[in-house]
Amino acid sequence: MIIKPKNIVEPVIKWSGSKRYVAPELSRHIANQKRYIEPFIGGGAMLPFRQIPNAVASDIIPELVKLWNQIKNNPEQVAEEYKNRWERLQDEGHNVYYEVRDNFNNTKNEFDFLFLTRTCVNGLIRYNTNGEFNNSMHKNRPGINPNRLKEVILKWSHYIRDVEFLNCDYRQTLADADKNDFVFLDPPYGGTKDRYTKTEFNLDDFYAELERLNSVGAKWILTFDGTAGNREYDYQLPTELYKHKTEIKTGNSPFTKSMKTSIDAIYESVYFNFETSVELRNNISKNGVQELAFV
Ligand SMILES: C[S@@+](CC[C@H](N)C(=O)[O-])C[C@H]1O[C@@H](n2cnc3c(N)ncnc32)[C@H](O)[C@@H]1O
Repeated sequence: MIIKPKNIVEPVIKWSGSKRYVAPELSRHIANQKRYIEPFIGGGAMLPFRQIPNAVASDIIPELVKLWNQIKNNPEQVAEEYKNRWERLQDEGHNVYYEVRDNFNNTKNEFDFLFLTRTCVNGLIRYNTNGEFNNSMHKNRPGINPNRLKEVILKWSHYIRDVEFLNCDYRQTLADADKNDFVFLDPPYGGTKDRYTKTEFNLDDFYAELERLNSVGAKWILTFDGTAGNREYDYQLPTELYKHKTEIKTGNSPFTKSMKTSIDAIYESVYFNFETSVELRNNISKNGVQELAFV
């Protein structure tokens, strides 16, 4: 059974590109299938709204998946690990952040990872070319209070208790998808370098995977690309791959914000490979405004 939140849910893992403000609207389109699959899980904003208990979620980032499994299986420990680091930060100052960051880069410890996402500049997960987390500490924000975060962690542990988390490429997660499955796809922007693997997200491969999902009869919703200010990310999905398209305004780019240039509004496209009602689709554009996640 899923405990269904009515509106916006406070994130447990802050993630840029989170779909949290649009998740309630998007989830109204989730067709009644046997299994829910989300192969680009990030901060997992759709999970509490997914309407299908049986679920598989995955991501290419190992420490992120380890953290999801800890939140699911050991929520009390996750809360305690955050509290320990947070209290040391308040008592001993900034050095603690950099100590945790060094430890994380040596060990990829998932509890260090959670602490860093909650205390780094704008909550941006950023790795250098050696794969080391290199964002600095957000000086004026102390990070969420551990007691409040504990409440959030415990709620999420319920939301995700029927979810199986995997660390793999999206194609591996989707390999056994069939007509009983509903897939929610929220990949990185086309043509951009993945911040973790430093490889470019290959759109031809991705389109081939969508075609394959269509051929096996899986239903999917895809949020994809769009525009940010003058920069075009709109890699129009080939029309033969989908049935409907609508648009959502998804807030401001964290990258332009962190670079202190003008803040751009981002528009994202939402594609459906199945029939949905016009009214529900229009509601996405009308009500589906989203901001990006910041600490
Ligand atoms: C836009 S984010 C997803 C955000 C998520 N919907 C949320 O609400 O927070 C895209 C995610 O895809 C992951 N990713 C990138 N390339 C991948 C790949 N080849 N296979 C699986 N996951 C990948 C990234 O690590 C990132 O977490």
